[in-house]
Amino acid sequence: MKTNKGVIFDLDGVIVDTAKFHFLAWRKLANDLGFDFTEEQNEQLKGVSRVNSLKKILDWGAMELSDEEFKRQMALKNENYLSYVEEMDEQEILPGVQKVIDYLIKNRVPFALGSASKNARTILEKINLLEKFDAIVDGTDVSKAKPDPEVFLIAAEKLKIKPENSIVFEDSVAGVQAANNAKMISVGIGEKKILGEADYVFPGFTEVELDFIKKLLTK
Ligand code: BG6
Ligand code: MG
Repeated sequence: MKTNKGVIFDLDGVIVDTAKFHFLAWRKLANDLGFDFTEEQNEQLKGVSRVNSLKKILDWGAMELSDEEFKRQMALKNENYLSYVEEMDEQEILPGVQKVIDYLIKNRVPFALGSASKNARTILEKINLLEKFDAIVDGTDVSKAKPDPEVFLIAAEKLKIKPENSIVFEDSVAGVQAANNAKMISVGIGEKKILGEADYVFPGFTEVELDFIKKLLTK
């Protein structure tokens, strides 16, 4: 296929449903500190860095921690989160994702990962996708968190694709905003009422037809 476009995938909530593991681990942290938060509030944590997530959660619980305790809680949360990740294998790849990846490989369309997670490489290895990506940009490579466009701009640069020719798949509000801020084509994966700012929204990857991808790539 002749195209000057490339694709950037978010990881958590797009390729794998790790959002549920993040939720469980953050919720345990909050409960251990003596408060709770709802799944609705959890939406605001999607795509948000580890540090900023803990800041938000502490706000909800009207709690303040010393710097040392803050760091300790972040480490505990990650340890707990990784205990879920440890159990992952390729069966965790969300339905419909593999067919899109296979299509991109077959048609030599470059694609990258653009994730806020510092655990991204570990997860990709677990689900056997690490070697498939042409570039990986994760939470260890960026200084500014989504909705800042940094993560996607670096990914596009690594793919040697112009921002306006980059197609981003995202499940979070912050991530869709980051893609829009980068002037990229944003495709939301999730509920339209949450991801309404995206150029296109699909409930899940099973609804993303290869024909739609082809049209975007050859437009
Ligand atoms: C994002 C998730 O992909 O990564 C957030 O949507 C998470 O929920 C963030 O906080 C950072 O992830 P990690 O694995 O570095 O704690
Ligand atoms: Mg996500």
